[in-house]
Amino acid sequence: MRCFVRALALPVDETGGADARSAFELRACYAYDAQMHASCAGHAAFITGAGRGIGAAIARRLAGEGAFVVLGARSLGDCEALAAELRASGGRAAAVAIDVGSPESVRAAVARAVELAAREHGQTLDWLINNAGIAQSAPLVPREDAEALFERHMQVNFHGARRTLEALLPEMKRRGYGRIVNIASSAALLGYRYVSAYCASKHALLGYSRAAALELEGSGVALGVVCPHFVDSPMTDESARRIAQKTGQSEERARELLAAQNPSGVLVRPEQIAEVVLELCQRGENGALVELDGAEPRYHPRSS
Ligand SMILES: NC(=O)c1ccc[n+]([C@@H]2O[C@H](COP(=O)([O-])OP(=O)(O)OC[C@H]3O[C@@H](n4cnc5c(N)ncnc54)[C@H](OP(=O)(O)O)[C@@H]3O)[C@@H](O)[C@H]2O)c1
Repeated sequence: MRCFVRALALPVDETGGADARSAFELRACYAYDAQMHASCAGHAAFITGAGRGIGAAIARRLAGEGAFVVLGARSLGDCEALAAELRASGGRAAAVAIDVGSPESVRAAVARAVELAAREHGQTLDWLINNAGIAQSAPLVPREDAEALFERHMQVNFHGARRTLEALLPEMKRRGYGRIVNIASSAALLGYRYVSAYCASKHALLGYSRAAALELEGSGVALGVVCPHFVDSPMTDESARRIAQKTGQSEERARELLAAQNPSGVLVRPEQIAEVVLELCQRGENGALVELDGAEPRYHPRSS
């Protein structure tokens, strides 16, 4: 629906909406945007890893549509700065410190986020965007710290999303409403060289999400997964830096090589992911799996 109305609206924006048909389309677009703004305004979202990159783009998009957003990451300062920026532009936002790798931190942060939503906006947290993640590269062998490397990736990328979901789910189920979007990766669908721990943790997240979606069927809580290929974010900047150090190539060349691994040949923009997240929250389709390669989002069939 959204893409359809947007596509109709494009020529209107370009021509200034001169003819009658375009004016109709423009009204349809405004009506749809107003409806969506209204439906977002009634919701509060908790976004992990919201201090920068993809999470920050999701926060900007949801807040821009009127949702109250609670931003979480280990660096509280990053989240507070973004929350202040969002409030300054008319949005509603708050920040909490969270380390998704720690069960105690997740419990405390979720309790704080619920309290902030209730106290400041009379709302419950009804959307969860599990976005916090790490990616560290290492060859398969020889590798001295294999145990620690795998443990870190599993704790943050898999258990982090799992335990945040499980902290919020009982209340969502009780109310019969909730939206959960797990940001996995194309590394949940494919293998990549030198990031076996990352790939394993994202495959685990996808497997867990598929099973959870089956259990949530009919509960009013919808769980979707987004699998982006390489994204233009600080995480990819860091990968390019590491490749440049190891190979002696420039960082720019390393970024080009990473982008070339995407089927589209270009890096995914964080805003493209934010758009899909918003759509999943709005549509509430349980079990959705969306792959983003820098071109159009690809919605996988439910059975996959
Ligand atoms: N970049 C890509 O190419 C790409 C592709 C596919 C999927 N993804 C996934 O998308 C998500 C976001 O990636 P990004 O590219 O935006 O990464 P990023 O730029 O490195 O940002 C990661 C965010 O997660 C937070 N974070 C990291 N560890 C955390 C922890 N233990 N607890 C709480 N927050 C934590 C970071 O803040 P602090 O460090 O302050 O905690 C930061 O806000 C990740 O799950 C990533 O795996 C990325």
